[in-house]
Amino acid sequence: MQNFEFYNPTRIVFGEGRIAELNRLVPEQARVLILFGGESARRNGTLAEVEAALGERHVKHFGGIEPNPSYETLMRAVEQVRAEELDFLLAVGGGSVIDGTKFVAAAVNYSGDPWGILETGGRKITQALPFGSVLTLPATGSEMNDGSVVTRKATKTKLPFKNALVFPQFSVLDPTKTYTLPPRQVANGVVDAFVHIAEQYLTYPANAPVQDRFAEGLLTTLIELGPLALSDPKNYDVRANLMWVATLALNGLIGVGVPQDWATHMVGHEITALHGLDHAQTLAIVLPAMLQERRDAKRGKLLQYAERVWGLTNGDEEQRIDAAIVRTRDFFESLGVKTRLSDYNLGSDVVEPLVEQLKTHGMVKLGEHRDVDLATSRRVLEACL
Ligand code: NZQ
Ligand code: ZN
Repeated sequence: MQNFEFYNPTRIVFGEGRIAELNRLVPEQARVLILFGGESARRNGTLAEVEAALGERHVKHFGGIEPNPSYETLMRAVEQVRAEELDFLLAVGGGSVIDGTKFVAAAVNYSGDPWGILETGGRKITQALPFGSVLTLPATGSEMNDGSVVTRKATKTKLPFKNALVFPQFSVLDPTKTYTLPPRQVANGVVDAFVHIAEQYLTYPANAPVQDRFAEGLLTTLIELGPLALSDPKNYDVRANLMWVATLALNGLIGVGVPQDWATHMVGHEITALHGLDHAQTLAIVLPAMLQERRDAKRGKLLQYAERVWGLTNGDEEQRIDAAIVRTRDFFESLGVKTRLSDYNLGSDVVEPLVEQLKTHGMVKLGEHRDVDLATSRRVLEACL
């Protein structure tokens, strides 16, 4: 196991009815900006519950944060916070709203051009406003991590940043708030969490059996619960466990002391930025092709995955790896998430512009061995057709 430092200051307040506890979690004198997305949080009553819990506090709103939050929209929120001298942010929504709130928190007092936050991957952030979240979509893990992904619409640039100053102070996870999710978003969430685990687990053996078994437990739980969340949407226990799995998939714990990949995510970001596919749709397309392309470098872990996650013990090594990749693709498809570029009406002409974007963004040495160069990414994308 590699050396590591683990730090996660986010308080999780989990369970039905716990939004009321915002009264305890948000400072009494806070001047609050509630940030939200489209209309879902208002329509399903989450926003009303949040407002009631905040009581007499000074509260303003910023709505309209879109999926794959844009720099352009978020900068309007930054202006509002500055103009109205607000000092506490509260994200109510999915990963996009929470990620957007992280950017706003860091940008309000950032010295220099706030786009620099993305260009430097968050390394130059020296302060951030305090914020919390009320999660309505289990998927990204943003509610308990210090990462965020923002898109600049003008240039179709989707970049991540990370900084310990943008961990949420707290996140309220009320599983009943996920009952209203459309099937597409439920499935997206399962796929996103699944691929987060894969990015931290499907690398090479690192003598970290606890992280491995934790990752395998999360994967098998997703395989069990994903279909149930779709077939029995008001099942509290299913929703609750799914929500906790998605949080644990990317709160840092399973990634400590082990190599990490993230090539699938970086290639996927370019597909979203150029063609507007949902984040999870891009992952469902890229992961099977990425595993196939890099099967030799990942051999040890792919065999372990085949056996422990999918119970595949018959056949030789190549057959077991093949079967594990097929099972992975079939699982995504069974949830209704398509796994080929052609399923989204994208053809071979999209490959070269995507490779160009990877080059522009410096994504030229990806993966746990830093050997996923542009030629490798091109082969992966061609295999995604
Ligand atoms: O905008 P509203 O009306 O709220 O509707 C949203 C949105 O259309 C809807 N929704 C959310 N909760 C709902 C609901 N509809 C009904 N009932 C509810 N309870 O769902 C749609 C998608 O929301 P979004 O927040 O975009 O989805 P998700 O949570 O999947 O977030 C995706 C974003 O997170 C980034 C992705 O790149 C993408 O931009 N990621 C962030 C990560 C992180 N911070 O660690 C890691 C991930 O890899 C990911 O990259
Ligand atoms: Zn993701």
